[in-house]
Amino acid sequence: MTRQALHTDRNLALDLIRVTEAAAIACSAWMGRGKKNEADGAAVEAMRRAFDTVPIDGTVVIGEGEMDEAPMLFIGEKVGAGGPAMDIAVDPLEGTNIVAKGAANAIAVVALAEAGNFLHAPDIYMEKIAVGGGLPEGVVDLDAPVAENLRNLARAKQCAIADLVVCILERDRHAELIARCREAGARITLIGDGDVAGVIATTQPESGVDIYMGTGGAPEGVIAAAALRCVGGQMQGRLLYETEAQKARTLAMGVTDPNHKFSAVEMARGDVLFAATGVTSGPMLRGVRRSGTHAVTHSVVMRSKSGTVRYVEAHHNFSTKTWAGN
Ligand code: FBP
Repeated sequence: MTRQALHTDRNLALDLIRVTEAAAIACSAWMGRGKKNEADGAAVEAMRRAFDTVPIDGTVVIGEGEMDEAPMLFIGEKVGAGGPAMDIAVDPLEGTNIVAKGAANAIAVVALAEAGNFLHAPDIYMEKIAVGGGLPEGVVDLDAPVAENLRNLARAKQCAIADLVVCILERDRHAELIARCREAGARITLIGDGDVAGVIATTQPESGVDIYMGTGGAPEGVIAAAALRCVGGQMQGRLLYETEAQKARTLAMGVTDPNHKFSAVEMARGDVLFAATGVTSGPMLRGVRRSGTHAVTHSVVMRSKSGTVRYVEAHHNFSTKTWAGN
């Protein structure tokens, strides 16, 4: 990266937070109103608009879907006001159901890397495993039996398996995984949605989560890998195909081995920036608080280059603007 690009990279951190703040504020208006599509639409529109002022030549590689199915922030869409060529991974509202229910842990999230550095993953499922930082490389493995992973993790953390907490999406497809964890003696926290936050939780001792396991969205996998690149931790992911068309699409997007077990760095290479704003409160971020003409947002921005993690509390005054604006 050139000196100029590095300078830009540092300044971009704040630009990115503006983008996630805009999305979070816009969709927070839909909290608990039972309308996940409206919440998502508000976040997408606000994030798309906020990108117009970001000084990059960005290409959405992880976005809202294919061009013919998503009006904005679709895969391949160009965003930004011009500048260095960047790959962009967005999830304007990670946890549409969470917001619809007014539950915990919905976030607006963006990750950014120099062009060509993010895995181009279609909107299919990915099998994932993740642990936080400071552990021996390879302490867990996607292909190892559940009990073996838990045993190795407990040994590395110098605790009993019974002390470990596994974060798993509550889905029927995880019945066997849940049974295996329970047989091994681990504790479990089942989350309704939001596995980007679930993976990041493994890196935060105060979350109480030691390991994330299970199948979730592939786009969310790449975004979570970008976050882990910044804060440390290990992750592996493998794309899962329900149809031959999904596999063909994956190959067409440039994945050469469709069954490859991707590490975090293979999903998010080079210097990575990650920003998220809380929509509803969770262990990492407080949700948007709205009152009259003000909103308070809580965001985090991380850079892999420096390992810096910055939390930003912003007080937005909307007396002269609309709620959806930033
Ligand atoms: P959305 O915000 O797009 O609804 O995604 C929420 C989520 O829970 C992700 O965090 C997760 O990766 C994925 O859905 C799991 O998919 P599914 O709900 O099909 O099991």
